[in-house]
Amino acid sequence: MSNTSSFNAEEHQKMLRSYFNGNGFNRWSSIYGNEKLSTVRTTVREGHAVMMDKAYEWLQKLNLPDNSTVLDAGCGTGLFSIRLAGNGYHVKAVDIAAQMVNKSREEAKAKSVEDKIDFEVNTIEAVKGTYDAVVCFDVLIHYPAEGFIEAFKNLSGLTKGPIIFTYAPYNRILAFQHWIGGFFPKKERRTTIQMITNENMNRAMEETGMVVKNSQKISFGFYHTMLMHAERK
Ligand SMILES: C[S@@+](CC[C@H](N)C(=O)[O-])C[C@H]1O[C@@H](n2cnc3c(N)ncnc32)[C@H](O)[C@@H]1O
Repeated sequence: MSNTSSFNAEEHQKMLRSYFNGNGFNRWSSIYGNEKLSTVRTTVREGHAVMMDKAYEWLQKLNLPDNSTVLDAGCGTGLFSIRLAGNGYHVKAVDIAAQMVNKSREEAKAKSVEDKIDFEVNTIEAVKGTYDAVVCFDVLIHYPAEGFIEAFKNLSGLTKGPIIFTYAPYNRILAFQHWIGGFFPKKERRTTIQMITNENMNRAMEETGMVVKNSQKISFGFYHTMLMHAERK
């Protein structure tokens, strides 16, 4: 049977790497920083903080062993990695964009936790190792179903316990906006949010032998995401 999919993993990574080393770096590092932002972006910053607090609360409740290792896949500017390191976890912080990794390292240095974080420029599809937990926030939202499932396979195979991640569930209004978005020039569509249907999420869980333990919709102003906690069956 012929493969009708147009998803090309390498091309997709190339596009994300280039975006998050350029305009995306400026855009997201200001959202994750302290500078004054527009009202819309402020709600994204605040919503993201709400999501991170909830994820941290879930992780703490799991009572992982002392000195646990956590993989922060797509660490961005290192917000979660630094928080983990400051609370005694050993962290592997990985991002596709060298600029993000450099910024994380700088921030970790400023907070004196850089010796607790192992930084690496790498992708969520290729990163290796075994960790007590894996977290992946607001990264898989940039992947269509096919890429999502492949990346999720790798990440879920690296955890001895939980994987805590976010994704964008399929929603008809968003799907319409997405469709409208298709009329914009290609270069403006770089980080369109990719929605995952329940069917594809179930497929990802089945193919990886994982099961959803907890999920919570986080909606705050212009920030909308689904926070998930999954573990092996
Ligand atoms: C919206 S930011 C989220 C950053 C961070 N997880 C947080 O929530 O603060 C998305 C991050 O994912 C990274 N990223 C995108 N695709 C990736 C991939 N395939 N592998 C690793 N990192 C990736 C980007 O470079 C960027 O730093």
